[in-house]
Formats: sequence, C-alpha cells, structure tokens
Amino acid sequence: MKNLKEIRPAFRTDNITYAIRDIIVLSNEVAKTGKEMLYLNIGDPNLYDFAPPKHVVEMTYKAMLANKNGYAPSSGINEAVKAIEKEAERKGIDNALDIFVTTGASEAIDICLTALVNDGDNVLTPTPGYPLYTAIASKLQTMENPYYLDESNGWQPDIEDIKSKINEKTKAIVLINPNNPTGSLYKIETLQKIVNLALKHNLVIFADEIYDKLLFDGKKHISIASLNKDVSCITFCGLSKNYFVPGFRIGWGIISGRRQVLKSYIEAINRILRARLCANHPEQYAIKPALEGDQSHITEALEKLTRRRDITVKMLNDIPGISCVKPEGAFYAFPRLHMDHLDSQFVSELIKETGVVVVPGSGFGQVPNTRHFRVVFLPNEIILEKAYNNIAKFYEKFIETHLDAYITK
Ligand SMILES: Cc1ncc(COP(=O)(O)O)c(C=O)c1O
Repeated sequence: MKNLKEIRPAFRTDNITYAIRDIIVLSNEVAKTGKEMLYLNIGDPNLYDFAPPKHVVEMTYKAMLANKNGYAPSSGINEAVKAIEKEAERKGIDNALDIFVTTGASEAIDICLTALVNDGDNVLTPTPGYPLYTAIASKLQTMENPYYLDESNGWQPDIEDIKSKINEKTKAIVLINPNNPTGSLYKIETLQKIVNLALKHNLVIFADEIYDKLLFDGKKHISIASLNKDVSCITFCGLSKNYFVPGFRIGWGIISGRRQVLKSYIEAINRILRARLCANHPEQYAIKPALEGDQSHITEALEKLTRRRDITVKMLNDIPGISCVKPEGAFYAFPRLHMDHLDSQFVSELIKETGVVVVPGSGFGQVPNTRHFRVVFLPNEIILEKAYNNIAKFYEKFIETHLDAYITK
C-alpha cells in the first residue's frame, strides 16, 4: 500500500470558503467546554420559533404517500411551474420566458452562472453579499468583480462604483434584494439605474429575491424584472425563507426579457437542468399550496421579527464604537465595528469569551478598511438581549486590550 499517494483536490476548490458555516468549527469546540452558547449566526428559521404553515407540510406528506417519489420533469412538475408563473405575475413579471424548479435557489444560481460564463468573464457581485456567489465564481474559475454597497446610503448599491467596474468581459450583475447580510431593501431609483446599465452593457441581471416577503414597516418589494420588459433577468426565489422550509431544498428561477436575446442561454440552462435530472420531487407539491394558500404565518413572523430587529438596532447602536443601519427586510443586520482590528479576530475572541456566535464581516466582503459582523436576529428577545449585553461588555474589554485598534465613531 506504500504507493498510495494523497489525492490532490482540484485547484478550483482552493478559494471556496463559506464563512457562515466555517465559523461552526470554532463554536463547536467552545460548546464542548460546556459554555452557554448564543447562536446568532445561521439563517435557518426552524432552529428558532418559526415553523412552516401546516398545509405546506401536509401536501408534501400526501405526495409521498401517493408515491410521487420517482423522478420529476427536469423543469419541475406542471402545477408548481404554473403556480410560480402566477406568483411571477403578482410580482409584476408578466413576460416570463422560462421557469424551472431547482434544489433550493442555490442550485438555480449555480446552474445559471455555469451556463453563462467562460474563462476570463466576470460577474459583478455585491460586497458585502451572500458568499455562495463567490464560491460558485471560484468553482467556475471566473473572475468575481465585486461592487460595493454604500453603508452611508442605507446599503444601497453604489451605482458609480458599478459603472466604474463594468468592462467588456462583464456578463452579469448579481442583486440580492432584500440583502443578506445587510437586510437592506432597494429603492426603485436604484433598481432603475441598474436596469439602464444592464441594457446599455447587455448584462444579465441575477435578481436574488429569496427574502421578498420578509419586509418590515409595511415596505413593498419591487422586483427589478418588473421594471423593464427588455432587460435580461433571472429572478431567484424559493420556499426556504418565506415559507420556513429550507430543508425541503426547493427554489426556482424565472427568466424574463427578450426571447431573441435569451434563446441560446435558455437552451443551455435547460441542457444542464436535464443532465441533473430534477429537483426533489415530493417537496414540489408544496409550491402551489405555499404560494396560493393562507399567508398568515408571514404576518405572525413579521411581528416577531420586527420586535427582534428593533432590539437589535437599538442595543447595537447603544454600544460605543458600534453602529448599525436599520434592516428593512430579511432577518440580518450588519453592524459596523469602528476599530482597526480584524473582524475575524473580534469574532473568534467573542465566541471563545462569551459564547455569542456571529459571522465576521470579512466572510461577506466589505469596503477595504471597514470591519463588520453579521447578526441573525431570528432568536427570541431574551437570547438577543443577553447576546447584545455580552457583546457590549466584551467589546469594551476588546478595545481596552487593543487600544491601538480603536477609531471613534
Ligand atoms: C441571498 C440568499 N440567496 C440564496 C440562499 C439559498 O437559498 P436556498 O435555501 O433556496 O438554496 C440564501 C440562503 O441563506 C440567501 O441568503
């Protein structure tokens, strides 16, 4: 057996990181010591006091009992695709060219990027943004072309920055609205400017709208695809966040724009969809009842989330040296640490010292020389208050021991 050498993984995996889960290694080690842990790091509502509507689960169970356990059509079962088409119309997208169901929005994003980019092409990705895009870009060995979100403007995409970064190899722009990790919701003026840039430079817009129903203060969501019928757009949505079934792994893509422009791209996407057979079959029976059934779970969830968002913003802004833009959607906040030390160090010391688990801002990308961390405000008020009190005490000590690293607000 001496000639058995170590199997070398592909270079394309070298830069794949996913800070949200990577931090779990450290938190598991700390948990083993018996320390009380306060988890504010994972965007999984089911770990907290959120559950899917009963009828969504029942329809899936019924489908399993009715032996809908074989393969499904590659683009999804007919009733689900029809229900998504109606949902697209409710979102103002009445020019859908193609709709397909996938294993979570994650798979749709992966397939659509894979079908679009060649070596040397680049994709504009929001910074900060959800790390899946960076991971897929690394896998495809495509250049990521990060554009900044402007913290001083409620984390809206920085249009001037986007303009300055578009080049002849730019194929697409990713827009996460509402955003993970900032919780910001994009204004119509911002979206309109992005549409104009996409039309001018023939870019595909990847509109990740997975949190489109989780909006605070009566805010309305605007789908970028609804603003212009000519713009090439793929809108990603799914059941994970709005219907609290992330473990079902059900998402979808809605392609809209001009057929002549998108014909070959749609065919390429469908070739990949066929090659990977299909998305989870029985869970697809949850799509129509979810989208068309009772939506009261969203109202209930928003009541809880609004209280938790308010506590988050108030308590974090009360800590000297921390500022937090008020999230308008989703269940994340991205507070800024006004210091000059690495946020990864802040977070690892915080976990070890207090058991509070958050994710360092560097895991989402950020404007150079700024430091943040991401908070998930799904846990109940008691946990959140305890966690923020711990953060306040810890940060005071952290600053004292790293005085050189402190910049005042
Ligand atoms: C912005 C964003 N897009 C996509 C996903 C993944 O969604 P899904 O569970 O449908 O794969 C997440 C999950 O956290 C997310 O935050």
